[in-house]
Amino acid sequence: MNILLLGGGGREHALAWKMAASPLTDRLFCAPGNAGIAREAQCVALDIADHAAVTAFCRSNRIDLVVVGPEAPLCAGLVDDLEAAGIKTFGPSRAAARLEGSKGFAKDLCRVNGIPTAGFERFRVADAAKAHVRSRGMPVVVKADGLAAGKGVVVAGTLAEAEAAIDLMLGGGLGVAGAEIVIEEFLDGEEASFFALCDGDAAIALATAQDHKRAGDGDKGPNTGGMGAYSPAPVIDGAMSARVMRDIVLPTLRAMKAMGAPYKGVLYAGLMITAAGPKLIEYNVRFGDPECQVLMLRLKSDLVPALIAARGGMLKSFDLRWDPRAALTVVMAAKGYPGAYARGSVIEGLEAAASVEGVEIFHAGTRADDGRILADGGRVLNVCALGDDVREARARAYEAISRIRWPQGFYRRDIGWRAIEREKPHS
Ligand code: AMP
Ligand code: GLY
Repeated sequence: MNILLLGGGGREHALAWKMAASPLTDRLFCAPGNAGIAREAQCVALDIADHAAVTAFCRSNRIDLVVVGPEAPLCAGLVDDLEAAGIKTFGPSRAAARLEGSKGFAKDLCRVNGIPTAGFERFRVADAAKAHVRSRGMPVVVKADGLAAGKGVVVAGTLAEAEAAIDLMLGGGLGVAGAEIVIEEFLDGEEASFFALCDGDAAIALATAQDHKRAGDGDKGPNTGGMGAYSPAPVIDGAMSARVMRDIVLPTLRAMKAMGAPYKGVLYAGLMITAAGPKLIEYNVRFGDPECQVLMLRLKSDLVPALIAARGGMLKSFDLRWDPRAALTVVMAAKGYPGAYARGSVIEGLEAAASVEGVEIFHAGTRADDGRILADGGRVLNVCALGDDVREARARAYEAISRIRWPQGFYRRDIGWRAIEREKPHS
């Protein structure tokens, strides 16, 4: 079959790598792709926001399945438009994608259905929001309702920070995404990323992962899209996974179906594992990036039939096999990220790096120029490795990084620290 993958980050490189290996795949296209994806797929310049153009491309290239990577086209209803044109598409509808597209929607759904999450209130007026935070103790968390590319959450330790966040968001500083805000209780615990493949009715838990969202070592510095990840997440054992499915994922699927918006696709629950059990921090309606990279390294089954089964409502008796080993990825980003950064610097040594045992390198913001690989984004490379445990995977990933020559890049040196603390020390 012919497949069109949409997106151009590390997540999509990992998906392309996995789908290109499927015996079901004849031709694989990716829009827009990147220099790494170009090894697996034919990259095409398509404006994803132009649904008519995507539809026309699918028709003229006989696309049998479209796989949507990022959230923006899902929230914009691309799946609805492609399916209406008779093109099979993996991912949630616009109505179902509100689980990520509106934090207020997701929080109300939790409240009505008894899904454990931080206590919250929704606001459109700054004075009311400020009165609310003054009546509560600090810290509180202030969130823009809509998609804000990672800038919409402020964990405020002081009243002044909370008020500044309220003024910024309700004052229009994040555009329409901040026209409404959610103010919620601060949750204390360990964060983990939980993924379920959903077909509208049934769901199967995928492997778990933990991300490192802060730019700097020791989980310091600004929030980013994610600077590294590993799988499995030791904090989610089998019993915890079953609990998350029972208390969070399955009630959400039932609620979405009951409101006429059945959820199909990958449901990514950002969790806080608190002393009182798992609580939902937020939903995303797609794979995490960089969590997807470590999941794809560990997935032994063919991904393509799983995506087809999810889209077709056939997941009930589906099973996926996972490599029992650990996978870890370190993100290499352009200096300055998540703030301003330069594009166009040359990256060398990638082949030597990829030859380290167990290592796979997925590209994010890269482009090819006359045989050279140039940085072309904030997050640029994902240096991934499998190992018998997180410690071994990490040693391999950092060995690979030591072979990469890219002075304009930076990376965290402590990816995996929580998991490694839990692993028994090697003798
Ligand atoms: P998000 O963009 O929603 O993933 O939020 C960014 C980060 O803010 C999360 O990964 C958490 O570390 C933190 N966060 C969000 N909500 C809460 C909360 N209610 N309590 C504690 N931390 C939170
Ligand atoms: N790694 C976090 C995310 O994909 O949202």
